[in-house]
Amino acid sequence: MTVRSLISTTDLSGPDIVALLDDAATLRAQRSALTSGGPAPTLLAGRTVALIFEKPSTRTRVSFEVGVAELGGRPLPLSSADLQLGRGETVADTGAVLGRYVQGLVVRTFAQARLEELASASGVPVINALTDEEHPCQALADLLTVRDAFGTFAGRTLTYVGDGNNVAHSLLLAGAAVGLGVRIAHPDGYAPDAAVVARARALAEAHGSEVTVTTDAAAAAEGTHVLYTDVWASMGQEAEQAARAAVFAPYTLDGALVARAADDAIVLHCLPAHRGEEIAADVLDGPRSRVFDQAENRLHAQKAVLAMLVGGSQPGAIAAAEGGG
Ligand code: CP
Ligand code: NVA
Repeated sequence: MTVRSLISTTDLSGPDIVALLDDAATLRAQRSALTSGGPAPTLLAGRTVALIFEKPSTRTRVSFEVGVAELGGRPLPLSSADLQLGRGETVADTGAVLGRYVQGLVVRTFAQARLEELASASGVPVINALTDEEHPCQALADLLTVRDAFGTFAGRTLTYVGDGNNVAHSLLLAGAAVGLGVRIAHPDGYAPDAAVVARARALAEAHGSEVTVTTDAAAAAEGTHVLYTDVWASMGQEAEQAARAAVFAPYTLDGALVARAADDAIVLHCLPAHRGEEIAADVLDGPRSRVFDQAENRLHAQKAVLAMLVGGSQPGAIAAAEGGG
């Protein structure tokens, strides 16, 4: 397989995703060994990866910066405000120039089409660090967290309650590709994109899982293994915050929804969270919550992606070299 960039979750097949999760788990174990004197990985030695963020970020920006450095590469954080991009230089010209200097681009932006343009103009791998449409690196970390909890995806179901947004889209596509059942419960008017749902349904059919999209949160939570939510107003939708709060209130991830889930269910949130809005404080901070492990897994999952796209390692090769995977 040759994956050139990670722009959409669908750039990865189900087996690619599972192999990357194996690599991520291996890199995680190696990182713990490092503190007790294990060898430092050099998968990105001599490579520079530019990080361009056109929206705010805590987890993604820091975990990519740390991840590139931990693999022996050089992270180059760039704010779009400091680039000529912020003064009107085209995306294509920016990509063409950066491609002469760096070996990879990690980009958070609005329209996903900007990433496609950067990838073709730069000729170097581009990694989606969140767009209006998708958040593939988040979905990889989420699946790693689910697999950590249950050991497998087969026969398990994840229920996402809230806005049919970028996070929901990537969960649908990645979950379906690895055989995890995905249920989305959304208020009327806030369904995930129909084309994404159709694609996820086709993947689910091929991988023995099921995709459900409904407005009934209680039914979607019944017997589920993972309860997941995200903010009601994403970055760029700040003006809609108040209107959305009224519509989304019945979709709060609270104790009543958790009570409907399986006995061993876990709770995830991509963060940042608003306690008392999309998630009750006692659920986010409660015993089922795995949100900080999930945030940590961003680092490990993204290192696996960087090793593949910028370091040229085959998915699963890192785990195989350690005798895992
Ligand atoms: N979950 C996530 O992407 O967080 P940041 O916006 O802080 O990067
Ligand atoms: N849906 C959210 C995710 C933040 C990590 C947003 O796009 O703002």
